[in-house]
Amino acid sequence: MATARTRAPLAPLLTALVALPAFGLDNGLARVPQMGYNSWYDLECSDAMNESTLRRIADRLVESGLKDLGYQYLNLDDCWAKSRRGDGTLVADEAKFPDGTLKPLADYVHSKGLLLGTYTDRGEQTCAGRPGAARHEELDAKTYAAWGIDYLKEDSCNASGDHLTAFMEYGKMRDALNATGRPVLFSLCGWKSWYAPMGSTLGNSWRIGPDDNNWQGVLQNIDIMNGLETYAGPGGWNDPCLLLSKKTTGEAIMTELQTRAQFSMWAVLAAPLLISGSVLNMSAETLATYSNKEVIQVSQDPLGRQGRRVLGGPVAEGTGNVFARPLADGSFALVFLNSGKEELNVTCGKECFGTLGLSAPLAARDLWAQQRLPDLQDLSFTALLPPAGGHRFLRVRSRGRFRGGLSLAG
Ligand code: GAL
Repeated sequence: MATARTRAPLAPLLTALVALPAFGLDNGLARVPQMGYNSWYDLECSDAMNESTLRRIADRLVESGLKDLGYQYLNLDDCWAKSRRGDGTLVADEAKFPDGTLKPLADYVHSKGLLLGTYTDRGEQTCAGRPGAARHEELDAKTYAAWGIDYLKEDSCNASGDHLTAFMEYGKMRDALNATGRPVLFSLCGWKSWYAPMGSTLGNSWRIGPDDNNWQGVLQNIDIMNGLETYAGPGGWNDPCLLLSKKTTGEAIMTELQTRAQFSMWAVLAAPLLISGSVLNMSAETLATYSNKEVIQVSQDPLGRQGRRVLGGPVAEGTGNVFARPLADGSFALVFLNSGKEELNVTCGKECFGTLGLSAPLAARDLWAQQRLPDLQDLSFTALLPPAGGHRFLRVRSRGRFRGGLSLAG
């Protein structure tokens, strides 16, 4: 008798079989979340999204010190491709990339010690109506490898929303990239949390929610990230979308405080750190935000565990929260966040610290003030946080012995 009990396991099994790697996603990349620049929110499809601007951005990534801090990928987003030749080979928009390929840009970016990323879509067309990868996966992967591409983001516009179809289509590009023999970081962009359980079999990162676009979008994606932590780890990461700051045109999407709050949260959530604001015209404060070595160290921690909420409720509803991430040296990164409209005291007390297995006294450091705090003699810390993005970023370590190990589970 075909009961629910006998039928239920079939779907996940089938899914697993379909997405089983033909060669395995074993490119050795993204052992820690990728870092770099992405052109989308900065340049979108404007005339400025062209080779000469991108070369200047490469220069600036080096001069500003960002490259040496780990921001190694310079990633093009939509609007670089124009058409296909008779034999199907992709052609870059010659008005933007005079050679009609991305090879000269890749050579230049490589000469700067950086890596080049590009963008496609699993449908016939990208979101902006440029050529997509459907039915051309093998040829496109070979073309990218020949140009010297190091990173590929594959979007999901104009494609089926069916899970199995999506996994199969992403699997095609994964296998095509693998077959080239060139290590290419593969970043899925399907905007849904149902990618997470399958993510690491398909790519090095997978978008779990919609475009972040603004502060409210950032908060929504933080809420989606929470609960997906078991799916993230070295080689494959949940992706809550791009880092937001002022565009090259000068338009500010969020406040400086919110840019810093997002950066803090992306570090504690082990999210890819892709700056999608102006590099050429970056404010001193934004540069200081993206250059904080101690926060970057949390993001790039080799244990590779994604943090989770230990206090509070949905941030999109405007609340006080604490998120915690266990780190390789036995310490924890803690972000206190106020997403509400009023100033707020947020306290991590016995229960909140207790779930981390920490015992008093705690040694603590403030990663934005960059200073050691007095030891927390009892298990309690209160942060007074301004509204709409107020935050504190602590790194704490038990001075005594761990009671419950390092587990964040439960
Ligand atoms: C969206 C994607 C964005 C950006 C845009 C380009 O689907 O989520 O990150 O790539 O397409 O058209």
